[in-house]
Amino acid sequence: MEQPVREPEKTPASAERPVVVSAVGLTKVFRDFWNRPKAKAVNDVDFEVREGEVVGLLGPNGSGKSTTVKMLLGLLYPTGGRLTVFGKSPRDVGNKKLIGYLPEETYLYKYLTAFEMLDFFASLFGLSKEERTRRCDQLLDMVGLAHARNRPVGEFSKGMARRIGLAQAMINDPAFLILDEPTSGLDPLGCREVKDLIKLLKKRGKTVIVTSHLLSDVEEVCDRIIVLYGGRIRANGGMEDLLTIRTNDTITVPKLPDDALRRIREIVRESVPDGEMTVRHPHMSLEDFFVDIVNEAKKESIETSGSRSGGAIAEYLTGGPADAKSVLESLTHEEETPAKSIARRMEEDAEAAEQEAAKRKQEELFASLQASAPAPEVEKSEAERREMEAKMSEANRKLMDLLNRTPDGKD
Ligand SMILES: Nc1ncnc2c1ncn2[C@@H]1O[C@H](COP(=O)(O)OP(=O)(O)OP(=O)(O)O)[C@@H](O)[C@H]1O
Ligand SMILES: [Mg+2]
Repeated sequence: MEQPVREPEKTPASAERPVVVSAVGLTKVFRDFWNRPKAKAVNDVDFEVREGEVVGLLGPNGSGKSTTVKMLLGLLYPTGGRLTVFGKSPRDVGNKKLIGYLPEETYLYKYLTAFEMLDFFASLFGLSKEERTRRCDQLLDMVGLAHARNRPVGEFSKGMARRIGLAQAMINDPAFLILDEPTSGLDPLGCREVKDLIKLLKKRGKTVIVTSHLLSDVEEVCDRIIVLYGGRIRANGGMEDLLTIRTNDTITVPKLPDDALRRIREIVRESVPDGEMTVRHPHMSLEDFFVDIVNEAKKESIETSGSRSGGAIAEYLTGGPADAKSVLESLTHEEETPAKSIARRMEEDAEAAEQEAAKRKQEELFASLQASAPAPEVEKSEAERREMEAKMSEANRKLMDLLNRTPDGKD
């Protein structure tokens, strides 16, 4: 009897978007020298990643995260199951320019300088010299290594090496980024920058798979998580769905006077007689606290020879200056009220109508100019041109003869 084709579970939020990764029954067994199974690293796993999703791949050490990632990249062959990336085999060469990869361990050509290393990877993608230089400089600035541009990468600290690895993963402005523990070895400022970068890439519609043991980082940037244990999927779902505790409510208000608090307690007791109410002050995350301290030290211009905090996100990754501006605007813009939104739309419509009228006028003018213009001269053939030149030089010679003649007609 024919078996029904197994499909990976769909994620409702992004179900209409194109599929980037599809894994069905994916399995990887590592074997020893005698071909005996040594470790079942990935065991009959089904999942799907859709365009524009940021997916966190979580799990304890040895749960199969890196093995899964390496199969997506075509670096390891699956032992079983079906795996496609952009609808093709992971080994398809065409996929390579669409994917950026930050490996778990940073492998660097230690005698190359930071710039030379990035330039080398850029050249593999066939970028022009100017484009390579532009991207390398922007990336070095973005990952906070502009000052170490000409230092051999072999000298870099662990965090600096991680930063250059991250820059290398983005040199081709990939549509799909696979980051295996991107924040490992980074200081809290570096972690913050990586998270901001992932958020920006998401805004640009890129697809990202990120593995990390730092759960708060994953929680902040991922739409969805897949939790592996012993090579099997234990949980797969949207962050909201998996983490929201629906049996409790949290209300945040400005500091209340004792009397108001007492009355609220009474209301809660009346509404939920068995329920307990806890009141406490919210506190900032340790990361925010640390970032504040370091920023203060930076303001006081205290010297450091290590990596500095990164600069702006590379312009080519933001889709150009216009896009960078819009990202900034979207982060800082005022909340739009319905009245403001209608006024803005009316303004935009009027502007569009004005532009349309100007365009039409320009087209009419162009058409009338074309109608009155003389017919373009047909290009002369090479033979005709030569004949004309010969005639001209003959005429010139005759003219010179005439001019050189004496009035009595002798030379
Ligand atoms: N090249 C290999 N040869 C043999 N076994 C391997 C190989 N690579 C991975 N394994 C085994 O596969 C299992 C999964 O390893 P993997 O590196 O995928 O885990 P991981 O989830 O990335 O762990 P970590 O959090 O430590 O990075 C482990 O038992 C590991 O020993
Ligand atoms: Mg790993």
